[in-house]
Amino acid sequence: MDKRPIGVFDSGLGGLTVVKELRKILPGEDIIYFGDTGRVPYGTRSRETIRRYAAQDIHFLCSHDVKMVVAACGTVSSVLTDKDVQDIGVPYTGVVRPAAQEAASLSQNGKIGVIGTTATVHSGAYGKAIRGIRPDAAVVGRDCPLFVPLVENGQVGRDNEITRLTAKMYLEPFFKENIDTLILGCTHYPIIYDIIADVMQYAVVFVDPGQVTARYVSSYLMQNGLSSEKAQGGTCHYYVSDQLDTFADVAGIFLGENVDGKVEYVSVDT
Ligand code: SIN
Repeated sequence: MDKRPIGVFDSGLGGLTVVKELRKILPGEDIIYFGDTGRVPYGTRSRETIRRYAAQDIHFLCSHDVKMVVAACGTVSSVLTDKDVQDIGVPYTGVVRPAAQEAASLSQNGKIGVIGTTATVHSGAYGKAIRGIRPDAAVVGRDCPLFVPLVENGQVGRDNEITRLTAKMYLEPFFKENIDTLILGCTHYPIIYDIIADVMQYAVVFVDPGQVTARYVSSYLMQNGLSSEKAQGGTCHYYVSDQLDTFADVAGIFLGENVDGKVEYVSVDT
């Protein structure tokens, strides 16, 4: 048993999709969340910059004595290597491996689409992880760089025409590819799932990184004797590097709970 919190970070709001799932399946766990809202998006930046930001984010979480670090960010998960995280002192997971595992086992025809940020898609991380599990798989990646700014700016309702048109532009080419499974390779994307699923006409199976990563964390904690002794009543505290009020508003709506008084400003740029 281990009562320390789980540390979760993302470039901004997207990691809340992981927090929401963690709170559903691990209601007794305390969580510390860091959203780097002052530097979002990460997905259009160089690998070096993403690595540097991620190292600062992880350092911040570890300074809060977390028992595990979860990179709830497709971009960070795609860019960081095992070597980058080998010395952080606690177990680490990103979202790529759990999502790749799920897609490889769900796909019937082995044709898997991945949408993500430019950094994620250019890294080839999802393709590599999927083919490591299922060598016959064909993986088609498409970067969707406008999705993150749209989500961060609240353009998220199902009726939102700007986001719908953007989704059509990015996703319609998948119809020619005969994919049967689509990984939402950025944790911001489940927030606009309704629009993505409408545009794809519900013709594929979707892999939500939040759900699969939360399941992975849950089994990792259990198997390694790191679970909380509480079954309920876990707390969640949020830190952001800018836009505190906007974050609190969107987090409150998205998580369905009042986060007033639970969001603090912090600078991790040391
Ligand atoms: C971004 O900051 O560009 C998106 C984060 C992600 O890839 O999940």
